[in-house]
Amino acid sequence: MKQKRIHIVTMGCQMNVYDSEQMLRHLASLNYRPTSQLGSADLIVVNTCSIREKAEHKVYSFLGRLARMKRLKPDLMIGVAGCVAQQEGHRLIERAPHVDIVFGTFAVGRLPSLIAQAEAQERPVVDIGPRGDSEPLCIPEPVSETERGTAFVTIMQGCDNFCTYCVVPYVRGREVSRDHKEILRETRLLVESGVVEVTLIGQNVNAYGEKNGHGCDFPTLLGHVNEIQGLRRMRFTTSHPKDLSDQLIEAFGRLDKLVPHIHLPVQSGSDRVLKRMNRGYSRDFYLKKVEKLRQVRPDISITSDIIVGFPGEETVDFENTLDLVREVGFDSLFMFKYSDRPNVPAVRFSNKVPDAVIGERFTILFGLQSGFTLKKNRALIGTIQRVLVDGHSKKTPDQLMGRTPCNRVVNFPVDGDRVVGVGQMLPVEIVGAFSHSLLGQPVAGVKEEGAGETGGMSHAA
Ligand code: 5AD
Ligand code: SF4
Repeated sequence: MKQKRIHIVTMGCQMNVYDSEQMLRHLASLNYRPTSQLGSADLIVVNTCSIREKAEHKVYSFLGRLARMKRLKPDLMIGVAGCVAQQEGHRLIERAPHVDIVFGTFAVGRLPSLIAQAEAQERPVVDIGPRGDSEPLCIPEPVSETERGTAFVTIMQGCDNFCTYCVVPYVRGREVSRDHKEILRETRLLVESGVVEVTLIGQNVNAYGEKNGHGCDFPTLLGHVNEIQGLRRMRFTTSHPKDLSDQLIEAFGRLDKLVPHIHLPVQSGSDRVLKRMNRGYSRDFYLKKVEKLRQVRPDISITSDIIVGFPGEETVDFENTLDLVREVGFDSLFMFKYSDRPNVPAVRFSNKVPDAVIGERFTILFGLQSGFTLKKNRALIGTIQRVLVDGHSKKTPDQLMGRTPCNRVVNFPVDGDRVVGVGQMLPVEIVGAFSHSLLGQPVAGVKEEGAGETGGMSHAA
């Protein structure tokens, strides 16, 4: 079979990153190999995100660029996957007639047959159908050895929470948990192929197993993953505060491979807004969870998401959010301007906040959090962090880049004669701190540390 090249552009969240990896796994049997060069690809897949309007615009502007490429190279096949594909279906072909395959979030496993269909017929192929009964989260084995030390493992898909602003339940469907034996098998295979860190992913991992977990809840699953030999770190994302159980909080004190980091989206610090968002918890409930987490794991890094300008958000609500941000002192924060999405309940809510007000509030929140982020980063100066090497630094390519247990980016130089590879875990002393990254210096003469010792940090002197 002739070898072909595929280039995947992945937008959006880690679910898409994972799905893109699945596409590569599925297409290995059709002799497709990945290429990092857009120009040398026979098939380009855009894996899209529709969480906010801006993300959707990005998809169409990129597709415009691909239209020009296709005029010069008519054999080029273009596929659109992910949440915009699922949401738009045939409408996407109307807006972008040069697209050959539109396949939604449940059709990733059908990609090989969709390609065959597109090759055999003149018309574009659209598949936004449900997952087949016989293929609930059917995931093929990893392709050969991975090139990174870290990998995502899906443990559940979809979401049943229906926050009033969010498209996810519509484009990713109802919550389905994967069989824990499958998750463990995949993780072991990844570890055998060189992976040392896994991130267990799902829209709401805390609810893992609630509906069909095959007799295993999330803290139990973490316990099983923790026992996999050769694995050195595990993370998970995303957590919903309402489902953060005491058992899960205790897991941070009990499981040696679980990193001291949790991403716990709060969305707002106002009870009134939280209610209108249908989040299912109060500000006080959230603060108590934070307190418990810090009791169990005082060095835990807590990050969050906040939406600014949700319909009906008044000055006092926003001040409550600022107040919560001050009280928690997040290690970092993802801030979003509220964006109307098709068909979600909030589209019909009255009292939309004007763009100019959203902009002002965003700037204020951003300023407040920047101070905290920098302060938290600076507090790490002088500590030794076990850094998992991920590749070359983006800004300074002669330096390496890695991540601390808390998931902070560290850039650091290496001596010319020292061989450091991707996936290696290295003790690095933090010597500088910025808003988005740390600067480090590998600690000479300290042996790389063994499995199960990845969570903590220690002072250099
Ligand atoms: N507008 C703005 N932000 C949104 N998010 C989800 N939906 C919207 C929306 N309609 C944010 C939430 C979520 C993160 C992934 O994206 O904060 O946690
Ligand atoms: Fe969207 Fe809410 Fe589900 Fe998160 S929990 S994916 S914000 S509906």
